Amino acid sequence: MKIAVLGTGMVGEAIGTKLIETGHSVMMGSRTANNEKAAAFVAKHGKDKASAGTFAGAAAFGEIIFNCTKGIESINVLKSAGEKNLSNKILIDVSNPLDFSNGMPPTLAVCNSDSMAEEIQRAFPALKVVKSLNTMWCGIMVNPAMINGGDHNVFISGNDSDAKKQVAGILTGFGWTDKAIIDLGDLKTARGSEMLLPMWLSIMGTKNSGAFNFKVVS
Ligand SMILES: NC(=O)c1ccc[n+]([C@@H]2O[C@H](COP(=O)([O-])OP(=O)(O)OC[C@H]3O[C@@H](n4cnc5c(N)ncnc54)[C@H](OP(=O)(O)O)[C@@H]3O)[C@@H](O)[C@H]2O)c1
Repeated sequence: MKIAVLGTGMVGEAIGTKLIETGHSVMMGSRTANNEKAAAFVAKHGKDKASAGTFAGAAAFGEIIFNCTKGIESINVLKSAGEKNLSNKILIDVSNPLDFSNGMPPTLAVCNSDSMAEEIQRAFPALKVVKSLNTMWCGIMVNPAMINGGDHNVFISGNDSDAKKQVAGILTGFGWTDKAIIDLGDLKTARGSEMLLPMWLSIMGTKNSGAFNFKVVS
């Protein structure tokens, strides 16, 4: 499949790499077509499977789009990607609306009665937004077996059940078992997964490592 990865940070790199390793073609998108990290990504994986361009170029390329951009800028990123390049596509939203403008700890720019994922869905109604993978460090997103034998959870939120099924298929390709994938319900449930971030940051500070995840037991 042709997949757009919007974002040149560590999440875009990790997800883009795993997608290529699992047989997809990836175009990495950035504000500029000549972003250095995107160029390094293409050099690492080769031009047959990897390419780089602007957010608009990548969105046009992708049949499915990952949003791996700075959460509080994601609406601007998607505006620059262009509505026509997004229409009717699945957007897997990995972003978190963290605002570091007042230092540490960051605050959530949107929370309680709204979420980043819902803001994106409202701004781009023709997109099928599915929130996932935002509750863990990117190393674990693409290699769940690296901790606890893969026995921990990844959440999915979204309004379109077929889109969620396709996203679950991509997660399976990343190494997640069916049992580990928890469908929380519609996109409103992304409020909860985004609001896990203050807790995630506190645990990371305590453990001095991002190599942990949430596991639901009952
Ligand atoms: N790091 C993790 O392990 C982790 C885990 C879970 C969720 N997340 C979430 O995943 C997303 C990506 O995280 P990250 O650490 O990989 O990278 P990041 O530094 O949060 O974001 C990098 C991307 O955001 C774009 N960006 C930054 N400022 C911008 C602006 N003013 N206008 C437009 N675009 C802008 C950059 O564009 P350019 O390419 O043009 O520079 C780049 O593509 C974030 O929302 C983060 O909260 C991260």
